[in-house]
Amino acid sequence: MSERGRMRRRAAGAVAALLTAGLLSGTPTAASTEVLLYRDAEAPVAERVEDLLGRMTLDDKIGQMTQAERSALDPQSDLAEYRIGSLLSGGGSTPTPNTPQAWADMYDSFQRTALSTPLGIPLIYGVDAVHGHNNVRGATVFPHNIGLGATRDPELVRAIGAATAKEVAGTGPDWNFAPCLCVARNDRWGRTYESFGEVPELPGAMTTMITGLQGDALSDSGTVLATAKHYLGDGGTTEGVDQGDTALSEAELRAIHLPPFQEAVEAGVGSVMISYSSWNGTKLHGHRYLITDVLKTELGFDGFVVSDWAGIDQIDGRDGFTAEEVRTAVNAGIDMVMVPYDYRTFVALLREEVNSGGVPMERIDDANRRILTKKFELGLFEEPYADRSHLSSIGSAEHRALAREAVRKSQVLLKNSGGVLPLDPSAKVFVAGKSADDIGNQSGGWTITWQGSSGAITPGTTILEGMRSLARDPSTVDHDRDGHGVDSSYDVAVAVIGETPYAEGHGDRPAAMGLDREDLATLSRLRASGVPVVVVLVTGRPLDISAHLGEWDALPAAWLPGTEGDGVADVLYGGYAPTGELPVTWMRSVDQLPLNEGDGQDPLFAFGHGLTYPETDPEEPGEPGEPGEPGVTPCTAELRVAHEWNGGFQGEVSVRNSTGAVLDGWQVDWTLPAGTDITSLWNGVLAGTGSAVTVSGTAWNSRLAPDGAATFGFTATGAPGAARMACSSP
Ligand code: GLC
Repeated sequence: MSERGRMRRRAAGAVAALLTAGLLSGTPTAASTEVLLYRDAEAPVAERVEDLLGRMTLDDKIGQMTQAERSALDPQSDLAEYRIGSLLSGGGSTPTPNTPQAWADMYDSFQRTALSTPLGIPLIYGVDAVHGHNNVRGATVFPHNIGLGATRDPELVRAIGAATAKEVAGTGPDWNFAPCLCVARNDRWGRTYESFGEVPELPGAMTTMITGLQGDALSDSGTVLATAKHYLGDGGTTEGVDQGDTALSEAELRAIHLPPFQEAVEAGVGSVMISYSSWNGTKLHGHRYLITDVLKTELGFDGFVVSDWAGIDQIDGRDGFTAEEVRTAVNAGIDMVMVPYDYRTFVALLREEVNSGGVPMERIDDANRRILTKKFELGLFEEPYADRSHLSSIGSAEHRALAREAVRKSQVLLKNSGGVLPLDPSAKVFVAGKSADDIGNQSGGWTITWQGSSGAITPGTTILEGMRSLARDPSTVDHDRDGHGVDSSYDVAVAVIGETPYAEGHGDRPAAMGLDREDLATLSRLRASGVPVVVVLVTGRPLDISAHLGEWDALPAAWLPGTEGDGVADVLYGGYAPTGELPVTWMRSVDQLPLNEGDGQDPLFAFGHGLTYPETDPEEPGEPGEPGEPGVTPCTAELRVAHEWNGGFQGEVSVRNSTGAVLDGWQVDWTLPAGTDITSLWNGVLAGTGSAVTVSGTAWNSRLAPDGAATFGFTATGAPGAARMACSSP
């Protein structure tokens, strides 16, 4: 067949596809089989971009650089009238009802309007799915980034990105304003919890979130465009003032804040969002050197740059935006402006700037090439509508199990005097605190609404519910938010306290950073009972707690775990020994801020600090004894859940010699939670059945050197409940 014939056949196929997608009407005629090159899915993207660009009017091009908030469109036909190329849902901007199906219907409706334009360029729709698809009721809400930084697990973060992308794509949006790669240098900053940590290496490592969100190819089903934000230096402002000024030398700015963006560019991130903050007094939204010379030219970023919400309005320090601010921002290298309300004025001003020569046509074309390239790579011209095949993934058991794993791994055990943790499943426990039974508090900001809120705002498991599910008898776990009713009959009291939800500048804390009065009152009631007190801190950052720490027997930092509070309970009851490490240095006093690793100050807990079981508080070390000496535990057994799936899990148990001498032989007596059966076991010898089994060493791992350890692995049915293990030397 001739090349022309092949072209005709390919074109006819493309026309058929367009008819199927509702992008063309009527029967193809000889003329309409001459499919335009930019509509040929087989053609190279660069050629499609150039072909389309050559067909676009100035208004088409300006529209592609315009992003509006969905609620600002009035009427919806403005989307076509002004050729607007992008919409967003700001935090909490949701359809009514706020259901996945209503999201998909809303998205498709907007898309149909966009496709009604002469060139039929599909819109790209952005959302802040910063810890799961958090705007959508019923979606899986993962731990905020500060907790993910504590996991030190980039692969876990990639998996979270992939899960989030599916939940977003199922509802329609194709662009996620995440991850924040901010390096939080002052805990006063209200966005500290959006940072993976205070050193560039942590956000840098967690750019795997980008790989998870974007997948192997943007055109793959269930992937979305990622955004590295906020470029540059948002976490380094003086006194942690949100949208403030980052007063650093260029060398310091490059050393601390730039590396995560280098990693993001290398990971192929599709977009970068500009920071509201300034660098030495100049607003980033007008910073040509940092945006064009450094990000685009030096780092080679070939995606597109988007402003933050009304970010260009701040360039001159006065309300609203002017022709000069539009000119400055676009010439600095911003490709798309998140207006987000007065899109008509923006379009008019930019058109005037182009016509007057204030903004060169080359700049307009460069911005359009960047934006259109991503739209073609996303496959939006072929598949413009919501991919409803992913709707079932929203809040799925699989995603919630992943979130629970992330919660477990994010817990940082800061103190554990006398081994008060893990809790005995048979213990009589009193639970108190404003965040013990509150999905909203445990999720934090950017959840259902922009600021988040306390209360049962979305389906999930509270920390209290998780604790009761792991106790041998749920009725042995009592709860009163304020601590009323606690007495000496309890084995332990657990106070789940900390911060209520906030986002952005609303979370800035320029003054004291201690506990609030409500928490202090709750704690004093618990202490009055005389029973050991475990404090679980649900916060977006470290707080000033030094004055109280001595009164607490144990302290896990839970951060903002999201909807799967049972992950916190897994650690409290020992189903998972804590492995989290501080992603930020913990202040001894608020006067130390800013406080960061290596700055020579003496923190309460150092960056990287984190205890595990059965390690006790270093101030009360357990003295090693001789094997067989009465009262000496010859070895310890510690279970770690490696993988979990619906109905089963895989784990490993580390058996450590705690005698300080050679240990000849060990065995672990193991009481399994109800419903758990061992299905396979390796590197150990299993005896017994049902809930009471014994595992002993094999020929090659029975003998343990002083402080030596052996590990056996297993798979089991059921869920990893609280493991009760006793290690002995036969
Ligand atoms: C906000 C935030 C930014 C977010 C954007 C859209 O003000 O600074 O992180 O992506 O607006 O909601």
